[in-house]
Amino acid sequence: MKVLRVRVDRERCQGHARCFALAPELFELDQWGNGRERGDGAVPAPLEQKARLAQANCPELAITIIEE
Ligand code: F3S
Repeated sequence: MKVLRVRVDRERCQGHARCFALAPELFELDQWGNGRERGDGAVPAPLEQKARLAQANCPELAITIIEE
């Protein structure tokens, strides 16, 4: 079964926080306000569109979606 995971590239992220604003179920902010995936980044099927929305809205192109 296909599993989607989100990943934030820590080098690219500049803390725009759009990921967290758009999909707080999938992203959180660290103490410096930079985004990171929650837990192992697994995306439940109902949240797939939110994951893609967050990816499309990151100005730094820091979010990738991996399909395993
Ligand atoms: Fe960082 Fe992009 Fe989110 S810059 S905080 S991964 S919107």
